[in-house]
Amino acid sequence: MSRIDDLKSYQQLYQKSLKESEKYWKMVASDFDWFKKWEKVSSGDFHNLEIKWFEGGKTNMSMNCLDRHIKDPELANKNAVIFVPNDPSEQKKEFTYKQLYEQVCRFSNVLKNNGIKKGDVVCFYMGMTPELLIGILACTRVGAIHSVVFGGFSAKALSGRINDCQAKMIITHDGGLRGQKVVPLKDITDEAVKECPSVSKVLVSKRAHNQIQFNSKLDVWLEEEMQKADTKCDPEIMDSEAPLFILYTSGSTGKPKGLLHTTAGYMVNVAHTFDNVFQMEKDDIYWCTADIGWITGHSYLTYGPLLNGATTVMFEGVPTWPDAGRFWQIVDEIKVTHFYTAPTAIRALEAAGVEHVRKHKLDSLKVLGTVGEPINEEAWEWYNEEVGKKRCPIVDTWWQTETGAIMISPLAHITPLTPSCATHPLPGISPILVDQEGKEIEESVAEGNLCITRPWPSMARTIYGDHERYRQTYFSTYPGLYFTGDGAKRFQNGHYRITGRVDDVINVSGHRIGTAEVEDALDEHPKVYESAVVGYPHDIKGQGIYAYLICHKEIFDNKDKSETIEKLKKELDEIVIKMIGPIAKADKIQIVSELPKTRSGKIMRRILRKIAAQETDQLGDTSTLLNPEIVEELIQGRSD
Ligand code: WT7
Repeated sequence: MSRIDDLKSYQQLYQKSLKESEKYWKMVASDFDWFKKWEKVSSGDFHNLEIKWFEGGKTNMSMNCLDRHIKDPELANKNAVIFVPNDPSEQKKEFTYKQLYEQVCRFSNVLKNNGIKKGDVVCFYMGMTPELLIGILACTRVGAIHSVVFGGFSAKALSGRINDCQAKMIITHDGGLRGQKVVPLKDITDEAVKECPSVSKVLVSKRAHNQIQFNSKLDVWLEEEMQKADTKCDPEIMDSEAPLFILYTSGSTGKPKGLLHTTAGYMVNVAHTFDNVFQMEKDDIYWCTADIGWITGHSYLTYGPLLNGATTVMFEGVPTWPDAGRFWQIVDEIKVTHFYTAPTAIRALEAAGVEHVRKHKLDSLKVLGTVGEPINEEAWEWYNEEVGKKRCPIVDTWWQTETGAIMISPLAHITPLTPSCATHPLPGISPILVDQEGKEIEESVAEGNLCITRPWPSMARTIYGDHERYRQTYFSTYPGLYFTGDGAKRFQNGHYRITGRVDDVINVSGHRIGTAEVEDALDEHPKVYESAVVGYPHDIKGQGIYAYLICHKEIFDNKDKSETIEKLKKELDEIVIKMIGPIAKADKIQIVSELPKTRSGKIMRRILRKIAAQETDQLGDTSTLLNPEIVEELIQGRSD
């Protein structure tokens, strides 16, 4: 692999990646196996939005994750995946590259035997077990497009996604094991599937052994199918730009967007960034704690490590069960060298008490990583001191579902660190800061909105089924630029600190939640007439959800009674859980008589955010409001 191995070569190769982009990516892509080499490295721009990488090339993702490695006898017998079950007393499972290859081939045949063909969409709604990882690799092998839906989403959220991508098959578990809970994944799937005419098969994997309804018209047991299936399956020959997967994420408006990633550009960039950022050595063990339901679980639990022939750990459970030392116990037990998690987990484990971490040695660790939200300096220092024992660089990796791969990050042991900064862009990535008008801020020390000036190989190519929305969302705010939705600061040394979303997206515990989606759910309550949802700073979650509600008179008149609020809150939670999932529950609600509106009738969210954040001294000019008198009522009635 063409890895960057010192600071000087980072600087040189970064420059080369921009000045001689074609040459650079040609060099990187040459490390992979191709049925046919590409004709053109890249084409398309941020105006025409017909972005293509390695056009004319033919390859296959699973072939590059597996077949390519097992040609080498040593790699064939190296562990590809270590599965750590939810219950610490249950045996771990290991899969060598050879074994993983066989499982993926079997699963590929199961897909084919059950009617899946190249180009079909297969939806996964599973817990974190090897079947999920094997299943998505099998999809890539047969040319099917996977769409993984996080197991915490509701039946409604699941059916909405299935209907949007017209999945033909859904693969689930009887139940998912998370701490002491069993998540009834099959029951939820049953409820969703009732509203999904495109689904003609449901594969069910046995895991929790909970009671389920077996519907013989639709359902098939995965394990029975696996036993019947052959262990050989040739990989499909896929175009570089063939769709690889769809992954849904929330935006500031409307329903979740299905970001479409394609084959070769994603593969090349994910592998290259993994290699450069984490700098793994041959016998290292890498653990990313993300769920495969999110992009991190796609790019840096599954594809990045496997494309590099690394050993990746897959953990089924939760960080706090049986106790808040679970992560650290696993690190010691299997000698994890590279550990990648979210700031929210770090803050939660810090809050649980330092004794949980000090009980463990953690001397196998070499590199720590964070992702998903800004990491505050205090959490960064704690991670550095208590977990890394000041021996391990922290790679604070900034990227998005849309970017497919890490964009701004230190390279472990290679580039310098600044606490709570994602620092430098990776090869091929050209970030800039712009002001409100979209003018580039040229000064080295600056703060502004973060944009990217040119296409990179792993960027999402479209929003599935809605290319116009793709243009609108990312390329219309500042024509000719990709707008990330994030704000950032740049320091004298060129390091970037990402400060968080500047749009109506809330980042709760590293999960992206659209305010509009939550508002739609809250508005379902018969006594809620209008709602406005904003984020506010939260010690553990990073951001919490704060909802302002205009309600029926009966509730408004009793709004100062705690029973009224509690009852309403409970009912609203139930609706949100049903419409989206528990992660989108409001942390705080406030009942108001009106919302602050501009003269054109738009809700002034800036004011709502400031009040929720208790920054009422920074409200700015409120005189342009249609109803300036409401501000005082909102401040007085703030929910604590
Ligand atoms: C948003 C993307 C991509 C991994 C998981 C989240 C925030 C992500 C960082 C970081 C500050 C970060 C941004 C971004 N974010 N990483 N290192 N520092 N903020 O993916 O759900 O698509 O969310 O997460 O706000 O826009 P996602």
